[in-house]
Amino acid sequence: MKISFLLSYVLLVHAFYGAWCSLGGSLHCEYSNSQILHRPHSVSITEFGAVGDGVTLNTKAFQNALFYLNTFSDKGGAKLFVPAGQWLTGSFDLISHLTLWLDKGATILGSTNSENWPVVDPLPSYGRGRELPGRRHRSLIYGQNLTDVVITGENGTIDGQGSIWWDWFRNGELNYTRPHLVELINATGLIISNLTFLNSPFWNIHPVYCRDVFVKNLTILAPLDSPNTDGVDPDSSTNVCIEDCYIVTGDDLVSIKSGWDEYGISYARPSSKIKINRLTGQTTSSSGIAIGSEMSGGVSDIYIKDLHLFNSNTGIRIKTSPGRGGYVRNVHVSNVKLDNVQKAIRFTGKYGEHPDGNFDTKALPAIEKITFENVSGEDIGVAGLLEGIEGDEFKNICFLNVTLRVKKNSKQAPWRCSNVRGYSQWVSPEISCDSFEESIFPEHSSDCFGLSENNVETSSGLSRSPWLFFWYVNEV
Ligand SMILES: *[C@@H]1O[C@H](CO)[C@@H](O)[C@H](O)[C@H]1NC(C)=O
Ligand SMILES: *[C@@H]1O[C@H](CO)[C@@H](O)[C@H](O)[C@H]1NC(C)=O
Ligand SMILES: *[C@@H]1O[C@H](CO)[C@@H](O)[C@H](O)[C@H]1NC(C)=O
Ligand SMILES: *[C@@H]1O[C@H](CO)[C@@H](O)[C@H](O)[C@H]1NC(C)=O
Ligand SMILES: *[C@@H]1O[C@H](CO)[C@@H](O)[C@H](O)[C@H]1NC(C)=O
Ligand SMILES: *[C@@H]1O[C@H](CO)[C@@H](O)[C@H](O)[C@H]1NC(C)=O
Ligand SMILES: *[C@@H]1O[C@H](CO)[C@@H](O)[C@H](O)[C@H]1NC(C)=O
Ligand SMILES: *[C@@H]1O[C@H](CO)[C@@H](O)[C@H](O)[C@H]1NC(C)=O
Repeated sequence: MKISFLLSYVLLVHAFYGAWCSLGGSLHCEYSNSQILHRPHSVSITEFGAVGDGVTLNTKAFQNALFYLNTFSDKGGAKLFVPAGQWLTGSFDLISHLTLWLDKGATILGSTNSENWPVVDPLPSYGRGRELPGRRHRSLIYGQNLTDVVITGENGTIDGQGSIWWDWFRNGELNYTRPHLVELINATGLIISNLTFLNSPFWNIHPVYCRDVFVKNLTILAPLDSPNTDGVDPDSSTNVCIEDCYIVTGDDLVSIKSGWDEYGISYARPSSKIKINRLTGQTTSSSGIAIGSEMSGGVSDIYIKDLHLFNSNTGIRIKTSPGRGGYVRNVHVSNVKLDNVQKAIRFTGKYGEHPDGNFDTKALPAIEKITFENVSGEDIGVAGLLEGIEGDEFKNICFLNVTLRVKKNSKQAPWRCSNVRGYSQWVSPEISCDSFEESIFPEHSSDCFGLSENNVETSSGLSRSPWLFFWYVNEV
């Protein structure tokens, strides 16, 4: 008894320090902010004839300013200063080595005339516009093939004035898929920080085929019933960090994607190495953090920490479908706090929504190694609604220290599972599903992402954690 107790204790401690080391060591959210402050050249948008009265259309002024500033790209880059005022504009194109600075009281307003949002080709990994076949409106702030772009300021605002787009959508009056507020395609080195985003026509921020993306300290707001106003959607992008954001919108707060069915499979550009820290917000229709449903290029190495959601529909959701192909693996979600959330954790294996009839029904996604650690919730409707795909079980799904207080009047079972398998420990209410009856420690910690014992060597010098001891004594 005593020997087995000690042995298990040692294994537990090693397992946990392994997780800490791999989390702390592998993926810091580091960036260099020297560019933000020290662009050697700076011009104000007013020098290009812009008028901040909320009525004058300033698209030409933005385009001319950026055309001029492009001449400084090999001289340390430049800053475009937007002072206090209401700067109405249509879509414009950014340049490399640029800081777009929105000063205190500055608002960039999106035009409410769809002709000021030109139409561009669909993304190759989607094969068509996301909501309508064919081409799509270009985002308000757009860029392709850029490096070193910073969009920041002193809590300036980018307001898409999206309500007219939401009405066009609801009334079936759109000719093309709605535009995002910011979309950067194939950018390297992107910082978006210290700003407020309001009322996007469609998704707010869409980095696609990008690397080294840092999104920090944003407020993103849209009405709770506005259609598809996702907050931040990293798409086929790698090395992305999203930190300290407050997001309240009509769709997912953050949604990680990588292309759609046969188009995403053949473009084969995954999303990987994504860290989301300290995200707070609300969505009454969708999820705090979603992965998919477009995930055909694969999604891996995702670390989500300190998520706080209130009065919301779903906490964390993985969405996929036969036909998507691809994978979602190596996801670690920790320190989640949910207040009054209908579904805490949800997996949907039959999400549907295909770009056309040419998808391959045999292209089954691989969903594996998803760990939830330190999750707590009050006033929860359903703790886990976990639906995999028949003949394509989601596996190595792990729940460690998950406490979800389900509403007293809830008539549903707290956990419902099909075609999903994994391990659980210290979960309340207890997972009733047979496919989770085995505990994580001591035998299965290496099957769970983020809890493996790979780092036993590096952890051996660390002091022991008293709470592990406490838990173990309780288990005995
Ligand atoms: C971006 O690069 C691709 C591939 O080199 C090229 O086809 C495309 O025209 C470039 N786009 C712009 C706006 O430079
Ligand atoms: C991405 O941008 C780089 C320039 O930054 C360019 O060389 C490359 O061809 C682009 N790739 C694609 C697929 O557009
Ligand atoms: C966040 O941004 C606001 C302005 O939007 C600024 O006042 C504050 O200092 C920023 N906080 C951090 C931690 O950068
Ligand atoms: C930034 O502005 C938004 C709305 O304009 C406001 O809700 C938010 O509290 C402001 N943030 C800071 C840090 O001042
Ligand atoms: C769709 O196209 C028609 C015909 O060109 C045009 O009148 C209408 O304004 C367009 N709708 C939108 C939302 O752009
Ligand atoms: C945000 O603003 C704060 C306060 O001005 C500044 O210290 C910080 O460097 C800014 N951060 C980013 C990432 O822009
Ligand atoms: C889980 O919570 C414990 C106790 O607060 C903490 O020591 C540990 O670091 C947390 N785990 C993660 C992955 O943050
Ligand atoms: C369990 O998770 C909660 C947060 O949800 C944390 O406060 C607590 O310390 C964790 N307990 C252990 C033993 O990790």
